[in-house]
Amino acid sequence: MSRVFYQSPRGTKDILPSEEIYWQYFFNVAQKTLSGAGFTKIETPHFENAEIYSRGIGETTDIVQKEMFLLQPTSSDEQVTYALRPEGTAGVVRAYIQNGMNSWSQPVRLWYFGAMFRRERPQRGRYREFYQLGAEIFGDESAKSDYLVVMSAWEILRRLGLSNLIVYASSIGCPDCRPKFYAKLKKFYKEKINRLCQDCLVRLEKNPLRLLDCKNERCQEIAKEAPNILDSLCPECRIHFQNTLEYLDYFGVRYEIESRLVRGLDYYTRTVFEIATINDKGRQSALGAGGRYDGLVQLLGGPVTPAVGYSLGVERIIEVMREQKVKIPLPRGVEVTIVQLGDKAKEVSRDIHDRLVKENINVFYIPSNDGLRQQLQAAAKLDSRFALIVGQREAMKAEVILRDLSTSTQETFAIKVLVDEIKKRLK
Ligand code: HAM
Repeated sequence: MSRVFYQSPRGTKDILPSEEIYWQYFFNVAQKTLSGAGFTKIETPHFENAEIYSRGIGETTDIVQKEMFLLQPTSSDEQVTYALRPEGTAGVVRAYIQNGMNSWSQPVRLWYFGAMFRRERPQRGRYREFYQLGAEIFGDESAKSDYLVVMSAWEILRRLGLSNLIVYASSIGCPDCRPKFYAKLKKFYKEKINRLCQDCLVRLEKNPLRLLDCKNERCQEIAKEAPNILDSLCPECRIHFQNTLEYLDYFGVRYEIESRLVRGLDYYTRTVFEIATINDKGRQSALGAGGRYDGLVQLLGGPVTPAVGYSLGVERIIEVMREQKVKIPLPRGVEVTIVQLGDKAKEVSRDIHDRLVKENINVFYIPSNDGLRQQLQAAAKLDSRFALIVGQREAMKAEVILRDLSTSTQETFAIKVLVDEIKKRLK
């Protein structure tokens, strides 16, 4: 029979232990930063009714048109088409509405961490299953929340030890001022219609803002001359953007205004931003992105609720941490391995194990019948700092041999002083 090798699905990857330590560190830093910024954690399902994405993210977006993993109904009692979540915001908005969070004390600040799924063409930094850490604030339309959102994303990346960070920010206005901008934009592009690519001809009718984001070289040249959205903002949107930037100045966030910043999701109003690192070769792909979406809660059937948030792409951040050789504290491995010989020793060892655990010392113990040599070899393989050797004689005298495996020296201690001795040596 021929041997079969199964591969992980295209665009997915295994996270092996040597990389996983970065993930743990990322999670811990993010959790601490967000708790300190007043956010609490939420979990929502990995799949939702596909409509929340098509309505929320937008019918004409790449995510909805080309990238959703749809789960078609398989029996007559299931009438809903579900989709693996391509992003977290729409699901959190659904949860906000369903759980009546508008009756909670506002603003409601939530964060989440988990896998997202997009059927994209896999390449470096672009996966079909990828992790996002996201944060969303509901119920505050002031620039204070735009600030808190950008600042907390910035602060996570700064605390991780990343350098050369930059925020690109813009405002794309509100339903009052955006139509006027669209009109200007359409007028400008209609005059250049012969030079536009096929995709842009569609964008011109369906989603004019995305004209500014076309990757086609000729279209990019045209976009450089296009009207600037910041010139079309209504007074309220202009002040809101100014206030946001003033907060960022205050906190020392390095930012650039990029008036052609267009996001791939349709729900945004006012503030939009991306965070990137710049290396020798120039700007890298975004580590995270977000913005304000004051209309989304209502669009998905909830009460009028302003909201703002962002997501960070965890794979990309970890790649940059490794590229920039960021030093992370290594998690504690096995600190003590108990080696015992005989029934009485097993009895005593159980008690020692519990005492060590209580003191938060990482202890490895298997009450096996292996010999001394075998158990010590196992301890060495685990990179354990100490071995505690309990023979029948030690067990009778309530003593134990403490062996330092890095120096191969050992001393005998009474069990009652053992824990303190180990704590002292682990410092
Ligand atoms: P997004 O720009 O689609 O926004 O994604 C946010 C971040 O997720 C990106 O900047 C990138 O780092 C990462 N990312 C996106 N797609 C992939 C992929 N295929 N592979 C690896 N990483 C990826 C959103 O998802 C919005 N929900 C952000 C938001 C939250 N806006 C308001 N609240």
